[in-house]
Amino acid sequence: MKVLGVSGSPIKNSNTDKALRAVLDATGLETEFVKLIDYTVAPCKACLGCVKTNRCVIEDDGIFLAEKAREANALVVAGFTPYSTLDARTKAFLERLYPLRHNQGFMAGKPGAAVITSAVPEDNKELPPAAEMGVNAVMFYMMEEGMQFIGALKIQGNVPCVRCGFGDQCKMSGIKMMYGPTATVDSVGIKDPESQPLSLDAARELGRKLADALKP
Ligand SMILES: Cc1cc2nc3c(=O)[nH]c(=O)nc-3n(C[C@H](O)[C@H](O)[C@H](O)COP(=O)(O)O)c2cc1C
Repeated sequence: MKVLGVSGSPIKNSNTDKALRAVLDATGLETEFVKLIDYTVAPCKACLGCVKTNRCVIEDDGIFLAEKAREANALVVAGFTPYSTLDARTKAFLERLYPLRHNQGFMAGKPGAAVITSAVPEDNKELPPAAEMGVNAVMFYMMEEGMQFIGALKIQGNVPCVRCGFGDQCKMSGIKMMYGPTATVDSVGIKDPESQPLSLDAARELGRKLADALKP
């Protein structure tokens, strides 16, 4: 049994990557970690060129990655939430799994899960529910392909402004937008999975549930 984990986060060893690895490790199964920034994956162009062949006509790495998804027994998709929805790289990857659908349903029945990193605090009701939007994008892909959606891990990530150098001084500061007018780089701090023990527990639980779903 092999579980494929795909991270859409372009940042090296990011929160998204760490959370995804925690889920994969907790399965206790053979796993593979793929980082989408290492590949070129254009979005689906809706040409339907894959209908008879189950192979995309776009000759980039999307073909090879779809093959990996087809061979895997389970799939964990991890992304982040620029402008409050799933990042484009992860979305393009999901769209490129469309060739696996026609007449075969290669992904149908497989267990799947989502890992979503977002910066907006969940108790901020003024901004869109970024984490929810990211989870929904992955969950709806899995539901529409007939996969078993096992669950989602939401993890708190960093507002890019904590490391941009202009932080709370910028007139468009995301720190103030997300955490309020008195928030500063220091008061917000750096978020990482290690400082979110509940999220790491949830990651392990999700990994165990995925492994259970693969038991005969
Ligand atoms: C262009 C851009 C826009 C962003 N917009 C949002 C947003 O609207 N809501 C949010 O929660 N996070 C937003 N973020 C923050 C990312 O979700 C956050 O950086 C995420 O934690 C990154 O995960 P990583 O550390 O795993 O790469 C944005 C990030 C970028 C780069």
